[in-house]
Amino acid sequence: MTDDHQLRVSKIRNGTVIDHVAAGQALNVLAILGIDGTSGEAVSVGMNVPSDRLGRKDIVKVEGRELSQSEVDVLSLIAPAASINIVRDYDVVEKNRVVRPDAVASIISCPNRNCISNADEPIQSSFTVLSDGVRCDYCETIVREDEVAANLDVN
Ligand code: CTP
Ligand code: ZN
Repeated sequence: MTDDHQLRVSKIRNGTVIDHVAAGQALNVLAILGIDGTSGEAVSVGMNVPSDRLGRKDIVKVEGRELSQSEVDVLSLIAPAASINIVRDYDVVEKNRVVRPDAVASIISCPNRNCISNADEPIQSSFTVLSDGVRCDYCETIVREDEVAANLDVN
């Protein structure tokens, strides 16, 4: 528990707290969630805040929003220790650690311009999750963990 003196980012009423994000990844979390500040939702971000478990961590709080499974799946690739806390009426009603899936679809796009998933065809991207990145199921191009954020198919 964090006491009031240490609380750097105020509590939210309803929404999602993405906690224990690896330090330095908060902006990538926002990118994965498609948050650029234009849609009006209240978002708080803490970067490099002290953490017992991680030393330093980032934290992202999004008011009025719960995350889809595919968003959580992609978050797990860049923030494998993250916990997803669902808050309702100021209480944490659900807390889950992210789990790395075996596969991810749609949210990442293949960086290979010639890949069939980038052609003008109704084919959505599909990747197999590796220990340090993902591999396109169509053309086998590898997107390393630190390249995931740059290859998001959001907006
Ligand atoms: N939180 C929030 N708004 C609320 C309730 C909780 O922003 N209304 C945040 C807390 O500040 C914390 C996270 O959600 O960063 C998880 O809350 P809680 O489970 O109460 O904290 P801890 O017990 O410290 O969680 P953990 O054991 O996962 O570190
Ligand atoms: Zn591909």
